[in-house]
Amino acid sequence: MPFPRRALSSQALAALATAGLAQLLGSRDVVAGAVRPALGAWLERLTEMTRALRGRQLGEREFQGLLDDLCGRVDLVDLYAAVDLDALAARTSLPATGARSVDVDLAALVGAPRLGFGARVFGCRRGRAIVPHGHEDLCTAFIVLAGRWRGRHYDRAETHADHYVIRPTIDRAFGPGDHSSVSDHRDNVHWFQAETDGAFVFNVHVACPGRSGGARVYLDPDGERLAGGAIRAPKLSRAACVAKYGG
Ligand SMILES: [Fe+2]
Repeated sequence: MPFPRRALSSQALAALATAGLAQLLGSRDVVAGAVRPALGAWLERLTEMTRALRGRQLGEREFQGLLDDLCGRVDLVDLYAAVDLDALAARTSLPATGARSVDVDLAALVGAPRLGFGARVFGCRRGRAIVPHGHEDLCTAFIVLAGRWRGRHYDRAETHADHYVIRPTIDRAFGPGDHSSVSDHRDNVHWFQAETDGAFVFNVHVACPGRSGGARVYLDPDGERLAGGAIRAPKLSRAACVAKYGG
């Protein structure tokens, strides 16, 4: 089902990358507690896709492609309003190292569909990171809400008891509205470092059908270099990964 795109202006995106959100949203008609129509349609579409994935009418690769496309069409200002990011940022202390995650209950918004997926927001101080990790049996995506990030992804080429073999796929700057996704099949490992203070990403996650779904596998991508650009990335405990990569 196609959705109209209501893109932010480049000026608005630049403002969001550097300024508080209230400054941008203050002049807009933000209705607390109600989902705006464009975002409601977006959530409905994601709910339909999730149902199709669970019912196996959609394969995981196809789902991930559709998720990428859908993330590119979200109305970012509506999404800010829906997660009430100003209030969330005000009440959430960002940690000295690593990231803080906060679950957001979009289904509680008036007019929102019954969701079949999880949603949360991650926040970091400047120089801190959502540390490198992979996921098993999960499709998930980040959409940058605020700040600038360096985002890296890797394909998981091999899975072993104590390490993955990974290959770099993405390493670029991410600003508001930029997005990326993870599945067992593509870009499985991600790692996002905040390059500004008050950096936030929105996250959706969907467990794959018939499997447990989604535990993080923390990794060290600074492992032994193998042939063809591959890396032997040892698994780490969360504490060890945050200590090395949390900033
Ligand atoms: Fe993740």
